[in-house]
Amino acid sequence: MKHTDIKQLFSESANFAGKSVTVCGWVRTWRDSKSIAFIELNDGTSLKNLQLIIDKEKIAESISKPALVVGNALRVTGEFIPSERNGFELSVKGIEVLGTCPQDYPLQKKHHTLEFLRTIPHLRPRTKYFEAVFAVRNQLSFAIHKYFNKNGYKYVHTPIITGSDCEGAGEMFRVTTQPWNAKSKTEQDYYAEDFFGTKAGLTVSGQLEGEVAALGLGRIYTFGPTFRAEHSNTTRHAAEFWQVEPEVCFADLHDIIEIAEDFIKSIIKDVVESCPDELAYFDERIEKGLIEKLNHVLKSDFGKITYTEAVEVLKKSGKEFKYPVEWGCDLQTEHERYLTEEHFKKPVFVTNYPADIKAFYMKQNPDGKTVAATDLLVPGIGEIIGCSEREADLEKLKTAMLKRNMPLEAYTEYLDTRKYGSVPHSGFGLGLERILMYITGVQNIRDTLLYPRTVGSL
Ligand code: 4AD
Ligand code: MG
Repeated sequence: MKHTDIKQLFSESANFAGKSVTVCGWVRTWRDSKSIAFIELNDGTSLKNLQLIIDKEKIAESISKPALVVGNALRVTGEFIPSERNGFELSVKGIEVLGTCPQDYPLQKKHHTLEFLRTIPHLRPRTKYFEAVFAVRNQLSFAIHKYFNKNGYKYVHTPIITGSDCEGAGEMFRVTTQPWNAKSKTEQDYYAEDFFGTKAGLTVSGQLEGEVAALGLGRIYTFGPTFRAEHSNTTRHAAEFWQVEPEVCFADLHDIIEIAEDFIKSIIKDVVESCPDELAYFDERIEKGLIEKLNHVLKSDFGKITYTEAVEVLKKSGKEFKYPVEWGCDLQTEHERYLTEEHFKKPVFVTNYPADIKAFYMKQNPDGKTVAATDLLVPGIGEIIGCSEREADLEKLKTAMLKRNMPLEAYTEYLDTRKYGSVPHSGFGLGLERILMYITGVQNIRDTLLYPRTVGSL
């Protein structure tokens, strides 16, 4: 269907001025007066609508009337002309209704609550808010690939179905073809009779397989869907989210922190430059000062503090936390947000967490108590990156696994990477939706995904 994108009309307006063009799109709003009718048309390519001007003396009512319906899909031909109010608009010559939209179309009003829009995920991409969210999500994904490609990382595709629980938190969804009423005598038999002949699940992280790839390819990243059966019903947790996980050989914790900061700044800069209309919209509609915040982040050095120092800061803060702070406790969102929002007022890396609250694969520090791990915390959200240098010593790694009652026989391949030519290496995981929330000001992770999957809601 030959037509021009509305985005192209606006970006190359000088070329199109005075010419006849054809556009396609949906009616966002319309107005009718005695001699002229107006339609705001949107085709998803540009946040800005194209205003259609229908001169009723030239266009018969039998043609214009059927077009004046919110949600109708149209193909329109007309002259692209300068206008005082809109920069440019379309003086309509012909209209074809491609798809009619009955009165029960739920998006009749200009503004709907996000709660209401969550009940119609199949229609909300037709709103300005979600058009902007998905445009930034797209640009952010592209920026991530660009960053790693430019810096010599290979993109690897780690399996979605896996047998190993990387984070050891027991949050894996099971993958099975066994009937619900399988008659297996034991649990072992049940899994043995299943599709893979063993217990299988959806990956919680591509890291372990990513390490395997990195320990041959040098520098890799994965970028794909990740699944966690977490029962935390918060605005920051989804059961299905996208994670970016670089893994870098010959890099210690210090090196990977430098990479993470450079990476975050690079992708923010890319979005700031590529999505000015979307960010201006979010700045106005969701978070006043958003663009200034992002520019400030680009200019400032991220904070750094050890876990032990952070605990001291929290204890001395005089704040009443719901969860009291003691050395050894896992930092809760309220603690993370105090550190990044009130103490540092910028993104901050918290390093060297107690080994007991972190995963088995992290490098054990000489103090015997902490691991070479870091979380990157940002204002408004808390953790967006989980990062560590990996334990490269075979014996130390085995000890950490046994301490957590992990079956070593299920990880023989992973252990082989430490047996054969082990090297210092580090990596991190960034939650795509979390950074998208930070960049856009969107408050709920359910509004960053096309179809959010959360506990109790598919
Ligand atoms: O801190 P996490 O659990 O780290 C890992 O999975 C490591 N294997 C990463 C690595 O070193 N390769 O998760 C990493 C990030 C978190 O910081 C957070 O941004 C995001 O993934 N994340 C979630 N995002 C949305 N919903 C959830 N349920 C999330 N769980 C983690
Ligand atoms: Mg984490």
